[in-house]
Amino acid sequence: MSLLTIDSLTQSYVDPYTGGVTEAIGDVTLEIADGEFVALLGPSGCGKTTVLNIVAGFIEASGGTVAVGGTTVHGPGPDRGVVFQDFALFPWLTVESNVAFGLKMQGVPKAERRERAGKMLELVGLDGFGAKYPHELSGGMRQRAGVARVLVTDPAMMLMDEPFASIDAQTRRQLQQEVLRIWDASRPTVLFVTHDVDEAIFMADRVVVLSGRPSTVAADIRVPLERPRTWRDVQSDPAFISMRDELLTMLGVET
Ligand SMILES: Nc1ncnc2c1ncn2[C@@H]1O[C@H](COP(=O)(O)OP(=O)(O)O)[C@@H](O)[C@H]1O
Ligand SMILES: [Mg+2]
Repeated sequence: MSLLTIDSLTQSYVDPYTGGVTEAIGDVTLEIADGEFVALLGPSGCGKTTVLNIVAGFIEASGGTVAVGGTTVHGPGPDRGVVFQDFALFPWLTVESNVAFGLKMQGVPKAERRERAGKMLELVGLDGFGAKYPHELSGGMRQRAGVARVLVTDPAMMLMDEPFASIDAQTRRQLQQEVLRIWDASRPTVLFVTHDVDEAIFMADRVVVLSGRPSTVAADIRVPLERPRTWRDVQSDPAFISMRDELLTMLGVET
């Protein structure tokens, strides 16, 4: 069954000063099955963040419809958790309070919040760091806290917008593996935005490629790799290498 349905989505932005129109999304139609991990891949400026923001309910689309679990999206909701590139943790709250924040908003009693946040911190490898503040953590640890903050509320969908973009290359690979391990524990449906071909293949069940602006779906390719995945195995797997070649060619990168 499809959990997310994006039908004939379009988005134009109007410059309030010049009146100039940017057609960001030309026509995007896409379905994501329940529990599926889909990467949305495309060049910078093609409208990936726009798609994610519309699915999150942060902005209303110019045209087309988005439905999650059969319900049309008109704003943010607890069924969709968002992991941002810049972590979006509250600097004045401890790591544990950050992770428990969504539960507090939902009116979950304090004892249960502490218990669920504690379990989630353990799952993401941050047990012992609950009393620290975000600035006391490394970038990788902050992003794990960002993922924990979303998953603790058990959303049907997790939306991620280039979550590892500000993390150094070595840590990024480790974090990609970590996030897959964490995702595997509850397998929420994921829409994962990235411009990184390797990352898209490594993380996803399917890679959806957007064309340049105004974007349409240029390709929708199933990833032929078993789970669980580690970079150690994947990087030399012929199936990974040939899919990477195919996607890089599609994006116009010389290989
Ligand atoms: N709020 C906005 N107002 C005007 N133009 C915007 C706005 N947000 C995005 N755009 C434009 O829409 C296009 C797509 O942007 P975006 O969705 O951020 O792309 P991506 O995430 O793929 O890099 C870009 O040309 C960008 O400049
Ligand atoms: Mg973006």
